[in-house]
Amino acid sequence: MRILQITDLHIGGVQEDTFGVDVRKNFDTILEKARKSAPDLIVITGDLCFETGNKEIYYWIHSKLESLNIPYSIIAGNHDDSSMMAEVFGLDNLMQQEALYYGLMMEGHKVLYLDTSKNYLPKGQIDWLKDQLKTGNDRLIIFMHHPPAQVGVPFMDENYPLENYLEVQEILLESNREVHVFCGHYHIEKTICIDKLSIHITPSTFFQLDQQSESFKVDHHNIAYRQLDYSLSNFDTEVHYFRGHNLKKVI
Ligand SMILES: [Fe+2]
Repeated sequence: MRILQITDLHIGGVQEDTFGVDVRKNFDTILEKARKSAPDLIVITGDLCFETGNKEIYYWIHSKLESLNIPYSIIAGNHDDSSMMAEVFGLDNLMQQEALYYGLMMEGHKVLYLDTSKNYLPKGQIDWLKDQLKTGNDRLIIFMHHPPAQVGVPFMDENYPLENYLEVQEILLESNREVHVFCGHYHIEKTICIDKLSIHITPSTFFQLDQQSESFKVDHHNIAYRQLDYSLSNFDTEVHYFRGHNLKKVI
């Protein structure tokens, strides 16, 4: 089973200035690279929109993903509107308590998709997550926009953390199961391991942030997707980088 994770697209409206970065061309580039690696599934982990949910942007992303003919899943980030996304992507049936969250079985593994678009995991999803952790005792894969941890990146940890990260982290650790969380939001590459919990943070297709700076500082404009290959006996993940584009030339 091969899954490609793409995150933090931050697509702007037509003619909208997105810090001089050609985010639509970046997304086209990532999808073309993704197609060549022949994944079984593509997962988009939030912040599809530059700043706020926008139907035109969601329709544009939807048409790009549909034309690939590769199965895909989406979740919302803090720059998205979950119900607007669900409407455009035909996922209204998955909306619960104004959030887009769901679970699937894939090659014998449970895969959960959470909605942290309000910058915290709401009570309804906390209860649902606890229930999901009770069934089965094998490896669990979770896609969510925010990492459920302090990451060691001062600017993001102080200003934009998952507000109840500690509560979510404790629930995952108490399950005493091997849990792999795949997220974005930080615009960096990093993996954090706490006991049986691994949190994999995937770079953006917009820009990457400096991991030491206490204020907003771009590190570089290479873009990336994460590849995850797994079976019952195997679990490998690696990040692949490509050149990003600005609005006039290759950066
Ligand atoms: Fe975000």
